[in-house]
Amino acid sequence: MSWKKQSILSASQFSKEDLLDIIALSEKLEKALETKRNLKLLDDYILATLFFEPSTRTRLSFEAAMHRLGGRVISAVGMQFSSLAKGETLFDTLKMVESYSDICAIRHSVEGASALAAQSIKIPVMNAGDGAGEHPTQGLLDLYTIFKRGFLTKKPLRIAFVGDIRYGRTIHSLVQLLAHFGAAMVFVAPDELQLPEKYQKFLDNSKISYLKTSSIDAIKEVDVGYITRIQEERFIDHREYEKFKDAYIVDHALIEKCQPHIAIMHPLPRLSEVSTDLDNHPSAAYFEEAHNGLYVRMALILGLLGINY
Ligand code: NCD
Repeated sequence: MSWKKQSILSASQFSKEDLLDIIALSEKLEKALETKRNLKLLDDYILATLFFEPSTRTRLSFEAAMHRLGGRVISAVGMQFSSLAKGETLFDTLKMVESYSDICAIRHSVEGASALAAQSIKIPVMNAGDGAGEHPTQGLLDLYTIFKRGFLTKKPLRIAFVGDIRYGRTIHSLVQLLAHFGAAMVFVAPDELQLPEKYQKFLDNSKISYLKTSSIDAIKEVDVGYITRIQEERFIDHREYEKFKDAYIVDHALIEKCQPHIAIMHPLPRLSEVSTDLDNHPSAAYFEEAHNGLYVRMALILGLLGINY
């Protein structure tokens, strides 16, 4: 079964063929936007964005993607202003979303919330982040960025994930996508923030070689450094967060010791873990990564609605 006309809940649902198809479609849409501002493909469609947790890039790029396709957007953010604040259940809220829109993107603090949503309503649901679970559409735009930097066909592509690997949902998704391309992975984190067992088992079963370390020196050997924020909102004990919040800093001095072609990625928002002194360096890929989200999300919306392009 192809990725089209489904919900997007986890990176695990994609085959390698699906991923290559999504990359090709994203590229085609990126090209089309060079000469047009509105592709006018979705005049009769409405996207609902439902964000129960903070977001800037994800929500705006979903909404911009829908607008560039010629569709319309309805948005529920700041849930303190919605009926949920009056005690309405998530299920009842979703039934409304289903009756007002054709496709929706949901971000929620509870792992599995998007999967529950997809079971409750008939329109396609896109998981825009479910707690410390996954963030598959971010994983796909990360994959597209790696492709555009020319690393996806490298044998093997070497990538270091740095920071909060335990709670970093974008990492959980990207790891599963990169497994299709035989990437060699290094996980750089304090022991307490290392890769959850579930994903280690997945890598073992997929015969992917990986290494766990707490030393940032591992970044010197790789093609891609994928840096993440320590996810303050997921810590039960705030002292733990304080202990780790400045664990790693990637700056110009460190990059000088890395491979000359290295790409530094970050799903953003960044705090101090990627120094602003890198922003104009050729290795800095994080703003182009955010930009790529537009094309990939356009591709996903089209595919899920079953519109061929
Ligand atoms: C990430 C997220 O929400 O998981 N941001 C994003 O969607 N680009 C990463 C983060 O919040 O640290």
